[in-house]
Amino acid sequence: MRPARNNPPMNSDWSPDSWQSRLAQQQPVYDDPAAVRAALEKLAQLPPLVTAWEVDRLRRQLADAAAGNAFVLQGGDCSESFADCNAVSILRKLKVLIQMSLVLICQSHRKVIRIGRIAGQYAKPRSAGTETRGGVELPSYRGDIVNRSGFTEDDRRPDPELMLRAYERAALTINYIRALSEGGFADLHHPENWDLEFVRNTPGSRKYQQLLDSLSDSIRFMEIVSGSELEQLTRVDFFTSHEGLHLLFEQAVTRTDQRQRGYYNLSTHLPWIGDRTRSIDGAHVEYFRGIRNPIGVKVGPSVAADELLDLIRVLNPDNEPGRLTIIHRFGADRISAHLPQLADTVRRSGQNVLWSCDPMHGNTRSTHTGVKTRSFDDITMEIITAFRIHREAGTRLSGIHLELTGEDVTECLGGPANLTETDLQRDYRSQVDPRLNYEQAMEIAFLIAEQMK
Ligand code: PEP
Ligand code: CO
Repeated sequence: MRPARNNPPMNSDWSPDSWQSRLAQQQPVYDDPAAVRAALEKLAQLPPLVTAWEVDRLRRQLADAAAGNAFVLQGGDCSESFADCNAVSILRKLKVLIQMSLVLICQSHRKVIRIGRIAGQYAKPRSAGTETRGGVELPSYRGDIVNRSGFTEDDRRPDPELMLRAYERAALTINYIRALSEGGFADLHHPENWDLEFVRNTPGSRKYQQLLDSLSDSIRFMEIVSGSELEQLTRVDFFTSHEGLHLLFEQAVTRTDQRQRGYYNLSTHLPWIGDRTRSIDGAHVEYFRGIRNPIGVKVGPSVAADELLDLIRVLNPDNEPGRLTIIHRFGADRISAHLPQLADTVRRSGQNVLWSCDPMHGNTRSTHTGVKTRSFDDITMEIITAFRIHREAGTRLSGIHLELTGEDVTECLGGPANLTETDLQRDYRSQVDPRLNYEQAMEIAFLIAEQMK
């Protein structure tokens, strides 16, 4: 029977606003309710950024990855900024993700699903509600969708209009990504399109060049054999994701799809729940359980095995493959104490999940001068350990979640150029968490490919 219009077949106890009866952590406190209402009404009228068909396609691809046929490469900024919504910055992020995916495909012979932390990654959870500098206490910066990073009262006042600005920038970003991935730029016959101008003649870049040369040979061979240009090689699939933190915003971009099969968050393909907001009776879990998108949930050392199982059952009650990605982020020194039991418990429960490793957020530390950084060695150690633990537990690591940039920044220590604490002063740009630079990111791609073999 066809469901009635505007009344999709959903759990009758869920609606896009049912989260409002639960405790919502990490939400901005606006001082003008009428302005918030006005912004949300405008937002709800704007066209979606993605379609339910794309979202469903990603869910099917993720199911395929969980079954071992593909690998998920998810990466981007910790926090996108409005200032970085420009051609150069978007292009570089796309280039590094495409180059990394190529390394993974060529070395592991597995399909790769590319997902950016992009086109909407504007809201950040913070450990404290306020920040004090020189005796002045102001609300914390919560990402460009909420307030501004400058340290004045005006900057830090949550401004509801910023939700509209964020949505518009997300639209500009996704528009450019779509244009680039549809052809020309993304054509595998022309990998030189993804070159980055600052790449030096390093061992990493030579390795990559060799890989491209043998890839070009294979493509030429295939095209001679098939007698025509391989059409599929002229475009790439690229999906978007962000932390679904700001629930008023996420609710306003939640729509029923044209087939009336339920509610989708149509601002992004894959929203995820952060480690700080994954409480089982909290507002975020309530919102996420009702949308049809594939979703992620981040878990850190504080999650217990039965708690994770409860979370999985609430977020994926039909045990649908591809629906739920567990992104674990323990830290190199803690993963061995936590992951084995979680993996074992989930495997024995028979729940379908896709396991992904975020080797960034458990490895954040401060230098003695108070700069937030991460060491390349900790990051690689957590990745290698994650692969090993999943192998031993009879589960499978099918994804990686990274904070990276296509720029030549100096935010994480170590890596191919062996960056030191002194180097961090040279080009540290992140407003929030330290990201892998281009060279470090490429090295990680080679390392993951090695682990996948
Ligand atoms: C993040 O991904 O930037 C983040 C805040 O992560 P987590 O929820 O894992 O702490
Ligand atoms: Co981060």
